[in-house]
Amino acid sequence: MDKHTLIEEIKRLKKEKDAVIFAHHYQVEEVKEVADIIGDSLELSRKATEVQEQTIVLSGVYFMAESVKILSPEKKVLLPVKDAGCPMADMIDEEKLEGFKADYPTGKVVCYVNTSAEVKAKSDICCTSSNALKVVDSMGEVPVLFIPDQNLGNYVKKHSKNPNVIPYSGYCITHHRARKEDALQAKAKHPEALVLAHPECRKEVLEEAHFIGSTTEIMNYAVNSEKQSFIIGTEMGVVETLKKEAPEKNFFLLAPSFICSNMKKTRLEDIYRALKEDKHEIHLDDKTLQAANSALSNMLVLLK
Ligand code: 13P
Ligand code: SF4
Repeated sequence: MDKHTLIEEIKRLKKEKDAVIFAHHYQVEEVKEVADIIGDSLELSRKATEVQEQTIVLSGVYFMAESVKILSPEKKVLLPVKDAGCPMADMIDEEKLEGFKADYPTGKVVCYVNTSAEVKAKSDICCTSSNALKVVDSMGEVPVLFIPDQNLGNYVKKHSKNPNVIPYSGYCITHHRARKEDALQAKAKHPEALVLAHPECRKEVLEEAHFIGSTTEIMNYAVNSEKQSFIIGTEMGVVETLKKEAPEKNFFLLAPSFICSNMKKTRLEDIYRALKEDKHEIHLDDKTLQAANSALSNMLVLLK
């Protein structure tokens, strides 16, 4: 099928199946073009509770589809590419979390949404990159076990009122690859540009940034800023969207390695097949679903 026919078929199937398409900012452009809602992980999990459609096609990675299912258990949630995972989420499982908790028996677990449903189910509250500090500060003075991202954890630790934040050792293979030298080189090449970086980057990269935020926060900052040029320290999908949203401005990727291969796995054909054949439906057992729902809902309540 050519691209035009595929897009028409996707539109037809969406109506027939009462479906809506969600896409993360890191998805390839052709997927974002057919998406009804594009967002960062917080926006996508929030929107899941608001849409009327019975089927949600989540173009992103596995944990995002699970989060949508956890918040909307009565809906059919489809992940077009089954093995689109998140290596950072895979760095912690239930057993490793139990071991971490055993080291800090009085601690509470704040879990980044980039985790499996089973890990969320064993956590006290979830957070995303845009609200991690707020969530941690809401916990009071208890030791906070921050899982799984060491970079976001250390960023929160630095800014939190709580002196007792203990980050786990995970990291995002895409963001962690960027080094201080990449930031310095990009700044030397584009001295007029502001550096906007995601908190999943190493501390040495964040120290070179003018602004630190989630993918949507970075995009809003760049679009609303009076400045003309920006070095973007997150996945390349954000740069592509920004070039479309603000064509009069200049955007440069902080390092060429900012590509999440898992986020790039989904194509139009996969969305088409997902809709046509109900592929791949997310199933979670009731116990996991309820416990994970409580951790995610604790976060959403806090943001109201
Ligand atoms: P956001 O919370 O900014 O959407 O980030 C999700 C993610 O996977 C970043 O690598
Ligand atoms: Fe996971 Fe990093 Fe890809 Fe985000 S960019 S989905 S954290 S591997």
